[in-house]
Amino acid sequence: MSAPGSVRVIQRRYAAGERIVMVTAYDHPTARLAHEAGVDVILVGDSLGNVVLGLDSTLPVTLEDMIRHTAAVVRGAAATPVVADMPFMSYQPSVERAVLSAGRLLAETGAQAVKLEGGVAIAPTIARLTELGIPVVGHVGYTPQSVLTLGQGRVQGRDEIGARRLMADARAVAEAGALAMVLELVPSDLAAAVTAEVGVATIGIGAGPGCSGQVLVLHDLLGMGGGRTLRFVKQYASVGEVIREAVARYAADVREGRFPGPEHSFPGTLPD
Ligand code: KIV
Repeated sequence: MSAPGSVRVIQRRYAAGERIVMVTAYDHPTARLAHEAGVDVILVGDSLGNVVLGLDSTLPVTLEDMIRHTAAVVRGAAATPVVADMPFMSYQPSVERAVLSAGRLLAETGAQAVKLEGGVAIAPTIARLTELGIPVVGHVGYTPQSVLTLGQGRVQGRDEIGARRLMADARAVAEAGALAMVLELVPSDLAAAVTAEVGVATIGIGAGPGCSGQVLVLHDLLGMGGGRTLRFVKQYASVGEVIREAVARYAADVREGRFPGPEHSFPGTLPD
């Protein structure tokens, strides 16, 4: 296993004015492929809940789920740094709880940084984690762990009050010491203004081209999402169709006796 890369690649690319490429992965084989494709950073998102575990939201995802999947991703990601999402209620109850959860996520998986959702309200937690040497990526705009109050996938900061609040959240996250922040579902102009303001890298998803980098959910960009393609997703392949067709051909081969053939079988000598 090669040594993991440093999440400082985000700051280096940001300082050089180069766009940062982040993608999610949830298991060993897809982490290996993302590494081989040359992405800068892999995110083990708690979107794991929706994408891989078949849940309706990220809320039931546990710290144990994140640890298990992040460890698998780190093993596959080789030198590509990995950021692990802190799941719902692993950091919200108290700063102490956040420190213990983040400590487990890093120590038990080999991930390079944690990501957590929220702005002004969570800034003291980000400050404490940073002070303890735990690299933090923030997440403002639409925050899926607040689905019960924000609703499902709603663009944030559309009116003046919302835009001001979002800007204040982004500032608070940057001032608390986050090395970068995800901006999710934010109008393009506002995301560009936040990016110009905060002095750390912004990584957009549904936040337009004015961010310092972009992140997409791997299964969405591969065409394995199962549902409709969301406006902010660009689908680069139809891997779901490739898998369906391959498994259907395998099923037909088994049913019609074409598989296994002699080339997939072992010759031997029968006992007397
Ligand atoms: O959980 C996740 O995949 C995320 C990305 C959408 C940024 O937080």
